[in-house]
Amino acid sequence: MAGRIPQHFIDELLNRIDIVDIIDAYVPLKKAGKDHQACCPFHDEKTPSFTVSQQKQFYHCFGCGANGTAISFLMEYLHMGFIDAIEDLASRAGMEIPREVTDATKSSNQSSELYELMEMITNFYSKQLRQHPQANTVIDYLKGRGISGEIAKEFELGFAPPGWDNLINELGKSHDAQKRLFKVGAIIQKDQGGYYDRFRNRLMFPIRDQRGRAIGLGGRLLDADDKPKYLNSPETPIFHKGRELYGLYQARKAIKDTDCLYIVEGYMDVIALAQYGICNAVASLGTAATPEHMEKLFRITNKLVFCFDGDNAGRKAAWRAMENSLSLLREGKQLYFMFLPEGEDPDSFVRHKGSKSFTDNQMQIPLSEFLFSSLNKDLDLKSPEGRSVMVNKTLPYLSQLPIGPYQDILIQELANLTHCEINDIQRHLSELSNNKTHKPFKKTDYTKDKGIEKVRWLVRCLLHQPSLVNQLESIDKLAAHPTPGINFLCELIEFIQSRPNITLAAILENWRDTKFERRLRELAADEETFIESKVTDSEFLDAINGLIKDNLEEFKDFKEKHSPSELSEEQKAYFRNKQKSE
Ligand code: GTP
Ligand code: MN
Repeated sequence: MAGRIPQHFIDELLNRIDIVDIIDAYVPLKKAGKDHQACCPFHDEKTPSFTVSQQKQFYHCFGCGANGTAISFLMEYLHMGFIDAIEDLASRAGMEIPREVTDATKSSNQSSELYELMEMITNFYSKQLRQHPQANTVIDYLKGRGISGEIAKEFELGFAPPGWDNLINELGKSHDAQKRLFKVGAIIQKDQGGYYDRFRNRLMFPIRDQRGRAIGLGGRLLDADDKPKYLNSPETPIFHKGRELYGLYQARKAIKDTDCLYIVEGYMDVIALAQYGICNAVASLGTAATPEHMEKLFRITNKLVFCFDGDNAGRKAAWRAMENSLSLLREGKQLYFMFLPEGEDPDSFVRHKGSKSFTDNQMQIPLSEFLFSSLNKDLDLKSPEGRSVMVNKTLPYLSQLPIGPYQDILIQELANLTHCEINDIQRHLSELSNNKTHKPFKKTDYTKDKGIEKVRWLVRCLLHQPSLVNQLESIDKLAAHPTPGINFLCELIEFIQSRPNITLAAILENWRDTKFERRLRELAADEETFIESKVTDSEFLDAINGLIKDNLEEFKDFKEKHSPSELSEEQKAYFRNKQKSE
C-alpha cells in the first residue's frame, strides 16, 4: 500500500461527495420516498431492492445483502483497490490526498525509487541500440521486419547486448544498487552469490504503465537457437502482468479519439499496427486477458475488439476472454471478436493487407454472435431436444449480464433461435438467480435482550441516527459496565461526539480494516433499521440507562466467567460500588 491516507481526509472526502451521484453514474437510480432505488447491480433481479440512502451515504440491497459506502461501491462494482477508490473520489471532488509519514509512506518512496531505476534501465537499453558496437544485428533485424526508425523511437525499443554484466557494470556499482536492480527483476541472483543480467542479446521492449512510468521490460531473442523467444520482467513491486498492458501508454490518445481499442497478442503486433496508423492497440503480457485488464480498459473506452488467430487456440482464448467480460458489459459497453485468417497475426495481416482491411469491421463478430454460434455449434436446433439444450447452455451466460436492454435483447435472440417464449426464458433466468441470492435478515427486537444484545441494539441505533449522542451527557457510568462490547460502544459514542453531522458512511470508513468492520456492516445493513424505525431520544436514553441499571446478578455471572485480570479498573470500581449499594 502507498502512504497511509489520514482518516480526517476520508471524513472530509465523504462529506464532499454524494453517494447518489457516484452510484447513479453506473446504476441509474430512481427516487423512492426519501431514498433512491435500482435493480441491484450485484445480483439478478427484476424489481428493485437495491437502496441508496443520501442521508446515510450508504447503499444496501435487501435481496442479496450487498452494502457499503461510496468507497465500497467503487471497490466492489469496479473492482478498484481501496487507494484507487479514494483517488477516484478525490479527483471527482477536486481534492488533493495528503499522506501521513509512516512506514507505508516509506514504501511509496521506495516505489518511486524503483520507477526511477526502471527509467534508467530503459534509457540504458535504448542507448545501446544507438551506440553499442554490435547494435547492427538488432538494427538489421528491425529493418528485416519492416519496423521504421520512427516507430522504434516511439516505442523506445532497445538492445540488451550479449554478455552477463553490461547492466550491472552500468547501474549496479554498489551492493545496494545491485539489490535494487534485483528488486525490479533486471538482474538474476546466482546460486553461488552475486548477480548476472537477465536480458542478454535481446531486442528490448520497455513496458510503461498508463501514466507513463517505466515498470517492466520484454525482450525478444535475436538468435533463433536461444530459448525462450520472449523473456519478460518477473512480477515486482511495481510490475504486475495481470494488470498491465503493453502499449496502453502510447495508445491513450488514439483511444480517446476512436473510443475503441484492439487487444492483440504480441508486442510486435502492437508495434506493426501503430506503424500502419492503428494506434489504438494494446497487448496483454503473454497471459490471457484478466478481468482486471477488462475493467481497466472498459473504464477508458466503450468498445473492445479482441484479435485472435483463427485457429483452435485462438477460439479458446476468445472464449475465456468472453467469460471474463460478461459481467462487465454495462450499458454502452461493447465487445467484439476478430479472428484472423489461418497463419496470420495482426503484424503480418496489416503488412499484407493494409490498415483498411484490418479496421473495416469485416472480421469483427459481436459478442452475441460469438456466444450463440459457439454454443450451438454441435446442436441440432431443428429438434426440440437440441433447442432445449441450447436454452440450458445459454442461460448461465445470459444471467451474468447486467440487467438492462442488452440482456433483454439477447434473451429475445435466444427466444427466436429456440422458438421458446421470452417469458419462459425470463422465468428460468430468475429461477437461476434466485438460487444465488442470500436469505433476508432475521427480524429481532433487540430492546428485549440483555447485555451484549442491548449493546448491539445501541450500536445499531447510533449507526443509523448518529445524532442520538447529543442527548448523552457523560459515558463514565456506561464505560464501567462489564458487558462485552461496551468499550466499543463508548468509543463509537466519543467518535460521533467529536464529529458533528457525521454520516453512517464516515463511521463505517473509520473502522475499515479493523476487527469491527464486518460486524458494523452487518448492523448498518439491518433491514428494519435501514428502512424506518426511528428511535426517539428518550427511547435511546432509556436503553442506555437500562443497560447501566441492569441487575447485579448478571454482573456476578459475568465476574465468575472472567478472571480479575480481565476486568478494567472501571469495571472493578463498578463492582465494588454495586456491591456496596446492595
Ligand atoms: P514475433 O514472433 O516476433 O512476431 O512476436 P509476436 O509478438 O508475434 O509473438 P507471438 O505471437 O509468438 O506471441 C505473442 C505474445 O506471447 C508475445 O508478444 C509474448 O508476450 C508472449 N510470448 C510468446 N512467446 C513467449 C515465450 O517464449 N515466453 C514468454 N514469457 N512469452 C512469450
Ligand atoms: Mn508475430
